[in-house]
Amino acid sequence: MPQSDAIWTDKDYVENLRSKFIVFDGPDGSGKSTQRERFGERLEALGGEVVHCKDPGGTDFGNMIRSILLDHDLTNMDVRCETFLFMASRAQLVGEKVKPALEAGKTVLCDRFISSTCAYQVAAGYDMKRVLELGQYAVEDVWPDLTLILDVPIELGFERTGRQPKHAGKNRSRHAGQGMLLDDVQTDAMEARPLDFHRKVRETMRTLPETYPRKVMIVDGSGDADAVHEEVWQVVARAFQ
Ligand code: TMP
Repeated sequence: MPQSDAIWTDKDYVENLRSKFIVFDGPDGSGKSTQRERFGERLEALGGEVVHCKDPGGTDFGNMIRSILLDHDLTNMDVRCETFLFMASRAQLVGEKVKPALEAGKTVLCDRFISSTCAYQVAAGYDMKRVLELGQYAVEDVWPDLTLILDVPIELGFERTGRQPKHAGKNRSRHAGQGMLLDDVQTDAMEARPLDFHRKVRETMRTLPETYPRKVMIVDGSGDADAVHEEVWQVVARAFQ
């Protein structure tokens, strides 16, 4: 995009994104980590101070919880337990990293957040309203200023990661659990869930602009990384107008 069409100058990005918390979310393989990193690099090159984080995880305790959630068979884990564990990791992340960084005027860029619980655990049978209530307990006033959903067809996401759900979904009786011990750590516990589960995740994410209590913008994540980055860069400026 020519500079004359830009909503913000480079300086505006640095000034206006101080103490802002931006989440990059989307289905598996949506490119959220790549886009978070590229956004952060560009902002830092302009002089912005950026803190990156990842949910679940991002702290020592959060990484232990992440390992419980993603490296094990969760077949017998109640979806409420699963939801609480995601929230527990997030509570630690907010207290230890996000809040102090925002208070210091930094821009916090995070992979996933409560928006992911709204999509994945709701797809696994948990109630959306409850997720949002629990989210409020977990993060108190530290909600994202903006959540970007990188929207991609599920099949493209899995093609990009080179991983596959373990079941096609047709013959499964318990769609909420993985139903097996993970024999391949490359495919995590959530990715191992059936395609139907992931389709529901995507559909729920697409409804978040109406249901989530903070601003959510959908970005088409199916193009190449450069094109998606340019779109993200402009969408962020539009979101804070
Ligand atoms: P990722 O770090 O590669 O995105 O993997 C995290 C996985 O955990 C991903 O499949 C999405 C899933 N997840 C949930 O099910 N609920 C959540 O609240 C979060 C943050 C992630």
